[in-house]
Amino acid sequence: MNPTTLNHLTYSPEKFGEDLATFKQDFPVFESTRSLDDLRQTDYARLDEQGHIYLDYTGGGLHGESQLQKHMALLSRGVFGNPHSSNPTSMAMTRLVEQARAYVLDYFKASPDEYVAIFTLNASGALKLVGESYPFGPNSHYLLTFDNHNSVNGIREYAHSRGATTVYMPVMPPDLRVDETKLNQYLDQADPQAHNLFAYPAQSNFSGVQHPLEWISQAQAKGWDVLVDAAAFAPTNRLDLSLWQPDFVPLSFYKIFGYPTGVGCLLARKSALARLHRPWFAGGTITVASVQAQNYHLAEGEAAFEDGTISYLSLPAIEIGLRHIDSIGIDTIHRRVMSLTGWLLDNLPALRHSNGEPLIQVYGPIDAQRRGGTIALNFYDPQGHLMDYQRIEALANQASISLRTGCFCNPGAGEIAHGLTREEMRTCFNDESRMSFNQFLTCLQSIDGKRPGAIRISVGLATNFADVYKFMQFAQEFLDKEADGV
Ligand SMILES: Cc1ncc(COP(=O)(O)O)c(C=O)c1O
Repeated sequence: MNPTTLNHLTYSPEKFGEDLATFKQDFPVFESTRSLDDLRQTDYARLDEQGHIYLDYTGGGLHGESQLQKHMALLSRGVFGNPHSSNPTSMAMTRLVEQARAYVLDYFKASPDEYVAIFTLNASGALKLVGESYPFGPNSHYLLTFDNHNSVNGIREYAHSRGATTVYMPVMPPDLRVDETKLNQYLDQADPQAHNLFAYPAQSNFSGVQHPLEWISQAQAKGWDVLVDAAAFAPTNRLDLSLWQPDFVPLSFYKIFGYPTGVGCLLARKSALARLHRPWFAGGTITVASVQAQNYHLAEGEAAFEDGTISYLSLPAIEIGLRHIDSIGIDTIHRRVMSLTGWLLDNLPALRHSNGEPLIQVYGPIDAQRRGGTIALNFYDPQGHLMDYQRIEALANQASISLRTGCFCNPGAGEIAHGLTREEMRTCFNDESRMSFNQFLTCLQSIDGKRPGAIRISVGLATNFADVYKFMQFAQEFLDKEADGV
């Protein structure tokens, strides 16, 4: 057998062929996603041309070359002005912006009678719109799961400032799911006369856990407004707003189809939007404003929430990107991602040192049920000592593997996964001076030797079997290594 060296990783092509055949047997639906292997050779050819193993789709999706070509062709043909004017170039742009907006609603099967699509900078921008405008009062509750992204956690600062109570619903190790039997207790804590907001991720960007969308109507029936963060869910799952009707859905488009960055969206139910109070007005958000009268009238619907000039030339690329996903089929992407994730989950925890101890600990579910293609993990040596994930990242970089390390802006899931207590976290916040992430880690380590943080790998629409196979080859290189020697 001739060993093949790819990106510093060595494996035999015969063994690869055998393992691919076994994979296809174990995950027969993968065969139905072959169109994506073809697309990998065309639209995503640059990955193999440059030898990249891209495993950070939860960080950012990758664009297909055809998306760029279509967008550039449109821009080079057209003459487009600021859509806030009403001249011919402006009106041409307005038509494309509104076409993109309609496509977004259509893509998510959101009835235009029920929902509006507000263009924002990113998912965080969408979340900030809700946070700053939500009518929290002293009797309000802001309920959220532990595994939210920091941009959802950040809304608690608006809640605090208006005297509302923030309540976190824990996720439980090892699966990092919520104890669902307790959900009603949490929902019943709130005063139904007050404005109460419940926020959770449809898919955790830490553990990949998918929380039930059934919670939406359960919470709404008890008078809650529900925010479902779809930033990590939408890239590989169908989100059908004709079936599920959360009040607010923030997302970033670059996570779904890579290009362009700088555009996100808040899908908001019209009835919920009507309850929001914007704390200011800006160009574009008003029908009329007066300096002398110091008064203004807010515009209606999405216009009231799009501050200033939106990134209008980028918006046709949103329609192009969504059409690209539609042409592949989100269900095809889902089947592919879940096959590859299933294979990783079968094989990574099975890696054992010679003494039988596991090399890898996965944080979160270790089967492919009710989860997505995001896997958080750490490497341990035969004596059970944690290997430095920053060192592993450096070695992955050398092998052209793009993964993510740290806490992924999801501190709650990390605190539970690493067994950190409230007291430990508070101790390190006692020092009032601003700390960097590494200084904070050093503080926690000095208390009881714990070093929070993990490695995250995530697969997406352009991932193929060779990518995950190469990651396994990379992981195997750490078998029987001492943590100090890595
Ligand atoms: C679940 C989740 N929510 C929100 C965000 C914030 O997205 P953005 O950084 O695009 O604003 C992310 C980004 O990683 C995420 O994964």
